[in-house]
Amino acid sequence: MRTQVAIVGAGPAGLLLAHLLGLRGIDSVVIETRNREYVESRVRAGVLEQGTVNTLIEAGVGERLQQQGLVHHGIELSFNGRRHHINMHELTGGRSITVYGQTEVVKDLIKARLAKTDAPLYFEGTDTSIHDFDTDVPKVRFDYNGQQHEIQCDFIAGCDGFHGICRPSIIDRLQVFERTYPFGWLGILAESTPPSEELIYCHHDRGFALFSMRAPHITRLYIQCAPDDHLENWSDDRIWQELATRLDSGGEIELKEGPILQKGITPMRSFVAEPMQFGRLFLAGDAAHIVPPTGAKGMNLAVSDVRVLARSLASFYQTGKTNLLDAYSETCLRRVWRAEHFSWWMTSMLHRFPDATPFQQKLQIAELEYVTSSQAAATSLAENYTGLPFGC
Ligand code: PHB
Repeated sequence: MRTQVAIVGAGPAGLLLAHLLGLRGIDSVVIETRNREYVESRVRAGVLEQGTVNTLIEAGVGERLQQQGLVHHGIELSFNGRRHHINMHELTGGRSITVYGQTEVVKDLIKARLAKTDAPLYFEGTDTSIHDFDTDVPKVRFDYNGQQHEIQCDFIAGCDGFHGICRPSIIDRLQVFERTYPFGWLGILAESTPPSEELIYCHHDRGFALFSMRAPHITRLYIQCAPDDHLENWSDDRIWQELATRLDSGGEIELKEGPILQKGITPMRSFVAEPMQFGRLFLAGDAAHIVPPTGAKGMNLAVSDVRVLARSLASFYQTGKTNLLDAYSETCLRRVWRAEHFSWWMTSMLHRFPDATPFQQKLQIAELEYVTSSQAAATSLAENYTGLPFGC
């Protein structure tokens, strides 16, 4: 088999890259370890920046997103028993965010891919390995249907997430910057009406909580928990009780309970591997960097990486010039580090740190009061949350 770009991983990064390349007449093959059902049902993030929404619409995969996505003009921050509205739309001159699950984005992209002829997408491609990416003829090998396959290509895109095989293949060429947080998030998806039209981020003595949603009658809720906590410790009753306590609305808003459809615990880390390229291997999305979910940046960063990569590859195929490809890592990392900072900042401001001194706790409240009372501070949050400009 031969293609121009072999893409490892069919998450948002790999699928969108394949789609953007297809629009520019560049061939690709996508290889994914999991099966389609798994990829289309894993519950992930759900907030799309304005630029992400525009990218998907411009690429022709935004139809369902425009019908079903929930456009939000602001968020709420809750602390000391009071809620404060941040009107991001007003503060940023008209930008908003859209709540639409990553799972739905993935479904839309898979559908678009499978609707085309000559657009290979292999699910359950196992034992994937990458070779010769320091030469002009890189190769990807994988097993599919009991047979070994080899793809020869011009470039490999490593879009296989944090636990994928691409980054470890060049680990001795990379510098890694990392921070793990002393807590995780217990997340649930429940069949009930969200308590508010907007997302509520709660700072509470017992720990952080977040009230989000996926649809008008499906809510997505998170509770800060211990990083090594187990789901067995969290009965449905305990989850609802803890959420109500941390929402701390004095009865002002009602938290409706409903059947819990899904539960999971996510560790929290910040991670960046530099550079995001070695030879003809390019890393994109979670394969190269992780943010704690507090800033809702994960999928948006994946989208901005592959925008840069698609444009750089198109420039190479059109002109033979490698200047944009050579600048890929630097271009992406500028935006990645901005998002790393914002996600770290939101995480630090809103969570209960087990070893925090009373002094540090007072500083958190001072920061929350500043963000919710100063237009300058609120604007900074709003412009980061709705998304900074793309690298290209
Ligand atoms: C979500 O809806 O899953 C979500 C929303 C905002 C975040 C993180 C996750 O900051």
